[in-house]
Amino acid sequence: MADTISTIPTDVTAQTLRSLESCDDPRLREIVASLVRHLHAFVREVRLTPDEWMRGIDFLTRTGQKCDALRQEFILLSDTLGVSMTVDDVAHEGLPANVTESSALGPFYTDDAPEIAPGGTIARSGKGESVRVRGRVLDTRGAPVRGALVETWETDGEGRYDTQYAERAEPDYRGYLRTDARGSFEFVAVKPVSYSIPVDGPVGEMLLALGRGTMRPAHLHVKLSAPGYRTLATSIYSAGDPYLSCDAVFAAKASLVEPYVPAGDAAATRWTLERDFVLADA
Ligand code: BEZ
Ligand code: FE
Repeated sequence: MADTISTIPTDVTAQTLRSLESCDDPRLREIVASLVRHLHAFVREVRLTPDEWMRGIDFLTRTGQKCDALRQEFILLSDTLGVSMTVDDVAHEGLPANVTESSALGPFYTDDAPEIAPGGTIARSGKGESVRVRGRVLDTRGAPVRGALVETWETDGEGRYDTQYAERAEPDYRGYLRTDARGSFEFVAVKPVSYSIPVDGPVGEMLLALGRGTMRPAHLHVKLSAPGYRTLATSIYSAGDPYLSCDAVFAAKASLVEPYVPAGDAAATRWTLERDFVLADA
């Protein structure tokens, strides 16, 4: 009996790491081992109490329970803790300097956006100031990328995504089109406004408890993909926005800021926005 007891290991971290040795996927083993080391060190560093850990578990449980087909509270958590942009930084290390920088995909991307005709509008209910968006998709050598898929989405002029309306009947303020032979695209949208990220869930509670801001600077999301190129999820940020320097999800970048220029009198749209994008080779 005494002999059996003396073989029970005492160091929980070493024991947990040893339990991973039978995993035959080396990458999975590397990721979980590092996670275990960091989590155990975190608990010891802050001397986490059992009550605090139960509160953490309750928080994560409620974060999962808040998720459904159109609400992604875990992405919001990852974004507000700066994890999403850190993953993004690592993914873009070593790319050529002229490649367009990425930005947060966020929790409001959906896969049901409609195709729009070149020059057509993504803002079917037209809530906001109209803007004609034009640009080109290029490779790192400056050649046009023909047939690139341009997906775009934004809030309406009141700062809400279509998925935030309980009565959402169909997608709005989102759409996709393809570049022409010159790599060009053009569509109509509404001028983005700054907005608060959703605060009616556990992540909102967390931000409030931490005394943190919840605003994102005005932006238009753009996701670009084409065979032979790395997919780019980015955003165009509005010059002069007061939240550029205090984005709640740390995703605004100086290289992605553009001015909205008043369109000519004869134009049916109020503003013009021009922006080119450079994709990295796959
Ligand atoms: C967004 O830009 O849509 C977004 C990004 C991160 C968190 C919430 C919203
Ligand atoms: Fe957004």
